[in-house]
Amino acid sequence: MSFQLKGKVIFFATNNINKFNEAREMLNHYKIAVGMLRVKTIEIQSESLEEIAQTSALYAFEKCGLPIIVEDAGLFVDALNGFPGPYSSYVYKTIGNEGLLRLMNNVENRRAKFQSVVAYFSEELKSPVCFKGEVHGEITVKIHDGNSGFGFDPIFKPVNSDKTFSEMPTSEKNKLSHRARALKSFAEWYTKESDL
Ligand code: IMP
Repeated sequence: MSFQLKGKVIFFATNNINKFNEAREMLNHYKIAVGMLRVKTIEIQSESLEEIAQTSALYAFEKCGLPIIVEDAGLFVDALNGFPGPYSSYVYKTIGNEGLLRLMNNVENRRAKFQSVVAYFSEELKSPVCFKGEVHGEITVKIHDGNSGFGFDPIFKPVNSDKTFSEMPTSEKNKLSHRARALKSFAEWYTKESDL
């Protein structure tokens, strides 16, 4: 398979500028230029991040016809049997970080992980290709807002770190994060395919 598009330019369908900035910085290491596309995406209700990302990639492609990535992420908390997982967006909007910390009040096991799925689709492909990344860590007892990042970043501390994602600049979060890991495998695959 070889991509028609010369030069490495793709689009990221998202309304989240933080996600976009993380992706731009990561993909820049691979000389892949990325544009932010604020097309309306759909997020189907599913327990699979992969299914959500794939559906959303096809939907975004239908709207714009451009080589596109979409990304879906979730926070999985051990003591809550993996909740909120694929429902993270709804939980963040409704109870937020304070609410999640309340659910974890007096809970000793603070282990949690973030997962990310990046789905890529372009006209050369039959179906979207997915790339996964994850990072293990813990839910902090209090909010540690370092004014960086977004979402659950102020309450998530990756393993072997004394800072939450919110206390790290993008370049540091990108060394560890679920999204950076998914984007790295996408970028390696894309670089190989587009050089054919
Ligand atoms: P989404 O559906 O992928 O946009 O993300 C689900 C929820 O998880 C949203 O509320 C996001 O704010 C949150 N989220 C996703 N990725 C991250 C991250 O890297 N850090 C913190 N929160 C995140």
